[in-house]
Amino acid sequence: MFSHLPSPQQDPILSLSAAYRKDTRDNKVDLGIGVYKNSDGVTPVMRAVIAAQQKMLDAQTTKAYVGMAGDEEFNLQALRLLTQDQSVIERASSIQTPGASGGLRMLAEIIAFSQPGSTVWLSNPSYVNHQPVMEAAGLKVKHYQYFDAKTKQVDLNAMLSDLKGAGRQDIVLLHGCCHNPTGADLSVEGWKAVTELAQHNGFTPFIDIAYQGFGNGLEQDAFGVQYMSANLPEMLVTSSCSKNFGLYRERTGSAIIIGENITHANNARGKLMQLARSTYTMPPAHGASIVKTILLDNDLTADWKSELEEMRLRLRALRTGLCQEIKQRSGSDEFEFIKQHQGMFSVLGFSAEQMVKLREQYAIYGVDDGRINIAGLREQDLANVAQAIIDVKS
Ligand SMILES: Cc1ncc(COP(=O)(O)O)c(C=O)c1O
Repeated sequence: MFSHLPSPQQDPILSLSAAYRKDTRDNKVDLGIGVYKNSDGVTPVMRAVIAAQQKMLDAQTTKAYVGMAGDEEFNLQALRLLTQDQSVIERASSIQTPGASGGLRMLAEIIAFSQPGSTVWLSNPSYVNHQPVMEAAGLKVKHYQYFDAKTKQVDLNAMLSDLKGAGRQDIVLLHGCCHNPTGADLSVEGWKAVTELAQHNGFTPFIDIAYQGFGNGLEQDAFGVQYMSANLPEMLVTSSCSKNFGLYRERTGSAIIIGENITHANNARGKLMQLARSTYTMPPAHGASIVKTILLDNDLTADWKSELEEMRLRLRALRTGLCQEIKQRSGSDEFEFIKQHQGMFSVLGFSAEQMVKLREQYAIYGVDDGRINIAGLREQDLANVAQAIIDVKS
């Protein structure tokens, strides 16, 4: 049965991490894999998470199954983190999923079930897993222009021009904030313009929000979800607690359906539960319990928000620090775009060869598509990384 299978393809980002671990150079810097790190280079367990786990351990009486939709209180809290708009909450329904990855797949499956043959439009470029997940569910994929390689910002006109080709049967996947891999986000005007086009052409937005709180702040980062959900009849959203609660391995996320009315949303949720049943049956409980415990406790919520804000501000400071070092050393504004980008990632605009040079000659590990994870920088790396970027660019 297995003899004809090809040997496995290496995951480009995970194999980069493996190469980094093997590298014996003292000055090595890991800007590859997308996890937040503190100034010691550690991905911390957040304070509120530690406290919530203790509280849960003390109170837990059973490990019995939870249910196909996961933890209902988590589902409500995860939705309320995105929007407080009662008119939206009243026509929204959701399930807990194994990370936003699970949410992406479940929502892709329900699109394929409800509208077979649909096309999902992805930004060019987009998160590496978007296309494989959509295709695995049997959906067709098209790309819309997004990132302007010259300005390193969103090319809104080009995006809108491509999306004019998206019609009633089409789904448009958007990054809620902190676009992966580019770091370039839609402006408020951009969100409004895409919403207007969706109203006019009838396509359905599908927002993947995996970094809420890492860009401009918890509330501001949800603007796209809030604006679109308030102004469009139907929408799909997946959200992740991997980054903003630091729960990566606990696989904690949600898949949300916003329908024209609650009956439509609940019917869709019923199908999502059936899809979950035939896939993993039910999501893991631990991460969702942590999030619920934090969000139902005012003190834990305040502490979580304050640590998340520290993380966000650290990312901003690293961006500013790197830009300053580059400018001081080169006298050029060429990399100032790094300051304008949001969240953990920026695309440098380097070729694969230049990224290999960064790795081989300077022990700086970024992804071959030019993506660097700003959170992988420690303050003491800034000068070296800035100089390496200048050297490799010239
Ligand atoms: C845009 C985007 N969506 C989804 C995910 C998956 O997140 P999770 O860990 O919640 O599955 C990621 C993680 O890197 C991401 O960048």
